[in-house]
Amino acid sequence: MHLLFEQVLNISSSIQTKTEFWDHIYSQVEVLIDGQRHWISNLANASSVIFNALLAFPKFFGRSEDKAVNWCGFYIHSKYFPAPRHPPTVTINDADRLLLGPFCGKPACQFILVDPKKAARGVCSEAYLQRQTVVVGDVHSHPGHIACDGDTKSEIVIPLILEVGGESHVLGVLDLDCLAVDGFNDEDKVGLEKIARLLANACNW
Ligand code: SME
Repeated sequence: MHLLFEQVLNISSSIQTKTEFWDHIYSQVEVLIDGQRHWISNLANASSVIFNALLAFPKFFGRSEDKAVNWCGFYIHSKYFPAPRHPPTVTINDADRLLLGPFCGKPACQFILVDPKKAARGVCSEAYLQRQTVVVGDVHSHPGHIACDGDTKSEIVIPLILEVGGESHVLGVLDLDCLAVDGFNDEDKVGLEKIARLLANACNW
């Protein structure tokens, strides 16, 4: 395990393109989550691998030297969270919410409403309800964007979709924030969607 993290953080000389970068991250996540299927553990390590690799490559995300990506994590629909057991009588109205899941970065909002009958508020709820990746080049001019960190300038949100028996289930979203305007592009979308598919299929929900 220790060696895996060293590989993630010490690869700058071998990675030349974003495609190579995302292929590398994909293989690191694949190896890390091999052997068990609990989504909390798998998403925790996935957010750490992605976040730390992004910190090592600011030039790919609009910054020359300093870190570019300031948040990477998951919001998962409340129905996939384990029911509270202590005390056994507790009831929580978590319907139609994405709850904060494993992440790396500063503290973020605890939940985001995703009621399909109401207008989406926030990039995460847009991606969840549309079942499509949303790339926001400038969060300050994006209506409804929820600001968790005032330094964030751009964002990409990828839905986690599981296809089972001809039905597709949206489990939640993978969200990345960047300190540069236009930090994410189509190559990031392709790379992250592949990782999102891997995670959706590699976990029990
Ligand atoms: N910006 C997101 C909220 C989550 S934070 O960025 C971590 C949104 O608009 O949904």
